[in-house]
Amino acid sequence: MSSPFASRLGLEHPLIQAPMSGSSPPALVAAVSNAGGLGSLGAGYLEPQAILEQAAQVRALGDRPYAIGLFVLPDEFDADMSAVAKAREQLDALMAREGLDVRTSLPTRWAPRFSEQFAALCEARPAVASFAFGLINPAQLRELQQRDIYVIGTATTVTEARAWAAAGADAVCVQGAEAGGHRGTFLHEAEDAMIGLFALLPLTVRALAESSSEVPVIAAGGIMDGRGMLAAEVLGAAASQLGTAFLTCPECSAAETWKRDLPHVEADQVTTIRGFSGRAARGLRNRFVEAMPEALEGLPYPVLNALTAPLRRAAAAAGRGDLLSEWCGQAAGLVRPQPAAELVARLMHEYRLARRLQAP
Ligand SMILES: Cc1cc2nc3c(=O)[nH]c(=O)nc-3n(C[C@H](O)[C@H](O)[C@H](O)COP(=O)(O)O)c2cc1C
Repeated sequence: MSSPFASRLGLEHPLIQAPMSGSSPPALVAAVSNAGGLGSLGAGYLEPQAILEQAAQVRALGDRPYAIGLFVLPDEFDADMSAVAKAREQLDALMAREGLDVRTSLPTRWAPRFSEQFAALCEARPAVASFAFGLINPAQLRELQQRDIYVIGTATTVTEARAWAAAGADAVCVQGAEAGGHRGTFLHEAEDAMIGLFALLPLTVRALAESSSEVPVIAAGGIMDGRGMLAAEVLGAAASQLGTAFLTCPECSAAETWKRDLPHVEADQVTTIRGFSGRAARGLRNRFVEAMPEALEGLPYPVLNALTAPLRRAAAAAGRGDLLSEWCGQAAGLVRPQPAAELVARLMHEYRLARRLQAP
């Protein structure tokens, strides 16, 4: 897979392990980068100090290029405290019913301040900065450029891809509707931006070419093997970004129960869920999703995300995958549990094989 994108970043393979906030620890990131792909530290939930510490751990494990991924959010959030109180009551009742010995609490902040996370990212100076949920501003783009940090913006529609290209991103990652985890959507309602990768990718490639933009397009959503990577390349992708495929690696910090569930997931069990975080995300329809208290429906991200954190932590500790946010893409059933370096080698072997089979 000869790719100017990979050469520009000094990667052996045009393969990105997606930033997965909460599930992409330094060991996974370094293993992928050391194997010739681009490992990404999903830092959306990390306080600035933790970003610096985890970035240092990645660097200590190898000196290959890696990415840090952040969620672009306002620094401060207002919450409707009567809705918060109702949601807490319902969550506490749910945890009591399910025999989990924890209760919700009011956090000191709903989420880390984006501006402080951004400053930590600049200080850590990874090769790549990856953003979802919004655009960065021109001053922030300049700061990254001054440090020679390559910028990838996440888009779920052609309009969002154009917005990132206009904002000066070095590459746009299109996130198809198949993709696991939170939707990166920021200019539309999430349900209006559920476009399958086979439609979104070539539409975006054409739109950016028509606007004479040289911005490479990265494909994300449902890619689980080398054939999928080749298909994305044929449709114009400069690289493939895989999240779910890496969740079953031993280096991944996803809960064991979640890892065990993934190989058995049927695509019709994977759905769009707001009830864990207040923002549309793709994951497994489990007991929590079925029993989700109505009071949670109206609460926005990141308020609800902070309120459900104790439940998710307790569920993981108790091995209760049915109460956990088991994020995954629609093709989760195709996971192959194995060490990350082996998975990278296998993906590239499959990619080369598929390419040979397609050759005239
Ligand atoms: C567990 C999990 C967490 C994720 N967290 C993030 C994140 O922090 N930042 C981000 O840009 N994308 C995140 N994503 C989305 C990925 O970047 C990517 O779009 C998705 O994994 C691609 O689809 P796939 O899971 O089918 O490979 C996450 C995905 C998963 C599965």
